[in-house]
Amino acid sequence: VSIVLIGAPGSGKGTQGSKLHEHYKICQISTGDLLRHATKDKESDVGKQIKKTMDSGGLVDDNIVMKLINLNLDKPECKNGFLFDGFPRTIYQGEQLEELLESRRQRIDAVIEYGIEDDILKRRILGRLIHKPSGRTYHEEFNPPKENMKDDVTGEQLDRRSDDTTETLNARLSTYHKQTTPLIDFYQQRNIHKRIDATKSVKDVYKESLNVIEHLR
Ligand code: AP5
Ligand code: ZN
Repeated sequence: VSIVLIGAPGSGKGTQGSKLHEHYKICQISTGDLLRHATKDKESDVGKQIKKTMDSGGLVDDNIVMKLINLNLDKPECKNGFLFDGFPRTIYQGEQLEELLESRRQRIDAVIEYGIEDDILKRRILGRLIHKPSGRTYHEEFNPPKENMKDDVTGEQLDRRSDDTTETLNARLSTYHKQTTPLIDFYQQRNIHKRIDATKSVKDVYKESLNVIEHLR
């Protein structure tokens, strides 16, 4: 099964994506995570440019993103399907993905939109804590780690994302509404779009996501 998760910043794409990835044993391709990884090399000019764009709340160049996708589709764990988190984000990326999958005789089975109002997202984003090496995500209030600011598994220090500020969040939201929401119509036309109410608890959103996927079969 292959799935696309679409939703505003903080809607729960990463949280649900990890659970669905474990459940279906499909590979989780988060362009946000891949791009963050690409910024780790502090000497690289491309890396610096990517970080600048991410911290501004805008979108990274489509061609850079498509290159990352191409590099990741052939991993062995992708043989059961894909889970795209935060990709595609523009109509152009949607068209490119469609072509790419067609040439591989594969397709997207469902596009799940995590629908949620902007004002709820603020609390989620500003309270988020992450364990950078693994990508594990927590929340100060909604999903606190067992020990203050420490990863449950390794005990290592938790961090915040450099784009999780009020200012960048506002820019990310505006980018989402302008550039990404047109994809909802794009996938509605293809009859594979499903909206889930993402204001519910992590558990309930997960249950509904499973429900959508099970009804495809
Ligand atoms: P990306 O990393 O994808 O960021 P985003 O889209 O802004 O989404 P987030 O990761 O912030 O939120 P999420 O939906 O994953 O929520 P999460 O599950 O973590 O992209 C970052 C940047 O990279 C972009 O701005 C852009 O510059 C660039 N980029 C990425 N992809 C690109 C592309 N395809 N093309 C071009 N540029 C690209 O949850 C958030 C918090 O809420 C957590 O603390 C979590 O614990 C908590 N939480 C989750 N669910 C619930 C719930 N149900 N109830 C209560 N709390 C919850
Ligand atoms: Zn995410």
